[in-house]
Amino acid sequence: MCGIIGYTGNRSALPLLLGGLAALEYRGYDSAGVALQSDQLRIIKRRGRLAELCKALECEENLEAARCGIGHTRWATHGEPADRNAHPHGTERLALVHNGIIENYSEIGDFLKRKGYRFSSETDTEMAALLIDWFYLQSGDPKKAIFAATDMLRGSYALGVVFAAEKERIYAIRRDNPLIVAVTEAASFIASDIPALLAYTKEYYRPDDGILAVLSPGNAVFCRSDGSPVSLSTERVDFDVTAAQKGGWAHFMLKEIHEEPVALGRTVSHYLGVDGLPDFKNPLLDRNFFARFERVQILGCGTAMHAGLIGRHILENLARLPTSVEIASEFRYRDPLLSKKDLVILLSQSGETADTLAALRYAKKEGIYTLAIVNVVGSSVAREADAVLYTPAGPEIAVASTKAYSVQCALLYLLAVYFGLCRGTVTPFLAKELCRSLGKQAPESVRAILAQNDRICHCAARLQSAEHLFYIGRGVDYALCTEGSLKLKEISYIHSEAYAAGELKHGTISLIEKGTPVVAMMTEKKLAEKMISAIREVRARGAFVLLIVSAEIAEQYQIPYDERLLLPPVQEVLAPFPGVVALQLLAYHVAALKGLDVDKPRNLAKSVTVE
Ligand code: M6R
Repeated sequence: MCGIIGYTGNRSALPLLLGGLAALEYRGYDSAGVALQSDQLRIIKRRGRLAELCKALECEENLEAARCGIGHTRWATHGEPADRNAHPHGTERLALVHNGIIENYSEIGDFLKRKGYRFSSETDTEMAALLIDWFYLQSGDPKKAIFAATDMLRGSYALGVVFAAEKERIYAIRRDNPLIVAVTEAASFIASDIPALLAYTKEYYRPDDGILAVLSPGNAVFCRSDGSPVSLSTERVDFDVTAAQKGGWAHFMLKEIHEEPVALGRTVSHYLGVDGLPDFKNPLLDRNFFARFERVQILGCGTAMHAGLIGRHILENLARLPTSVEIASEFRYRDPLLSKKDLVILLSQSGETADTLAALRYAKKEGIYTLAIVNVVGSSVAREADAVLYTPAGPEIAVASTKAYSVQCALLYLLAVYFGLCRGTVTPFLAKELCRSLGKQAPESVRAILAQNDRICHCAARLQSAEHLFYIGRGVDYALCTEGSLKLKEISYIHSEAYAAGELKHGTISLIEKGTPVVAMMTEKKLAEKMISAIREVRARGAFVLLIVSAEIAEQYQIPYDERLLLPPVQEVLAPFPGVVALQLLAYHVAALKGLDVDKPRNLAKSVTVE
């Protein structure tokens, strides 16, 4: 949700800023802009994709000489996407880029109006920029100005600021929004995320909330508001620049779907001990630890929450552990009933989702133990939870989350096996067997479904002109449908609904008419006959049914369909792995056939850092 980049060094800043913005464009892409320390402080910004900004920059002169600057790619919150609302904002004295929301922007606006300021945008960000400007006019000291302003700001932010009077310096500060700082021999950078820096370094600092970073070429110092210095250690990523590049793939989403077998294998082998049983690589997370919980509450948003639905199924089935799943943004507002014997599990790919972070803080405040399952190392959710399990999926760039879902499910599966061992519902022998097949069969079955890409593309062609679509399933298949439906909606703009097949007849079946496409998911044998009835019911009303069915069920039952996709043979409990990949590829091909921008769907951004 908005990408920030900043560079100060001995090279021309503009190409570096644009390279960084290209790497961050997945975070927001309705406008982009840069501020450069050239002969004077110059701000150039445009509505639309980065390409629009590049066109505008071609008409400017003398920008190459600038060795310091900041850039921004925007996901609009306050004010429509427009040149005037794009970042950077500022005055002739300073320019500022912002990721987050300033909640008390109108109060600050009143304050600034009284001081004589007039506004040129509808953004909350401009208020932050002008507030710093006002304090800067009072003290002439950038640090004092930034601290005085941030003291007044409510909400969440990562800010990058340059002052016209300090040609080589960048200031950066954050609250509840991601911001990293990196230093190389001759340059220093700020960025919202690591992919923007990977071409230059794998090491970075992650300042805590309220710590001001002051960057000059090849140096960064950190301080608190009282001026005291802060010493930080660097963190390091273990993937390289190619992991965050598209390679030869048409889209990041397609690349990331194809990375799932490897990501799954890596996740399982990382969390297996030499004895073939789960080992969470944290001495605190032992049997005694897990034995103390009587209930699990899983929280997350979007795809992560959907992975939680699979987790609930496995935890309840394998470990017989009562588990509930809730949308993180709803959780804390309903005054939930929690007990000290609850374990709250937070699921998040980015680890920066504001709603998930807020839910985590709520649970912690209530004294409930929190365990985060997160992909981005060092992210806010990871750092604030009582314990964290990282999913080694590598960077996920496409806005539509794919591989993160699968590895979250795999980790929840391992947790369920471990809980089962602790609770005596799973024997050590069975536990080893389950872990072994998770590490082997799950990736293999995903490879087998990926091999059916052409067949899936053929099915997608039959759905691409639909206006509305239903996904139906029962049990774990209903959970899969929620994810399949979200994937289709977000990238193809086709309205779709996931429905528990047994619930259709209680109202929604009235929407089925001749030709209505229905994707029917069938991997649970015990529910096969029930699903067949539901399929007959919708077909009797003219629905076009795409059946996605496990090979074993297809062999055993006569199931009516219009198109059929056979899932590779795999243990039933592992069927969600190839099942979800079939749904991801289906959504991908529908969107690609429609010629849509698969990786950057409209109105969305990868990391939702505002509530
Ligand atoms: O980074 P997170 O996993 O916390 O993100 C949660 C959702 O915003 C995310 O899964 C979103 O639903 C995706 N765009 C779905 O593809």
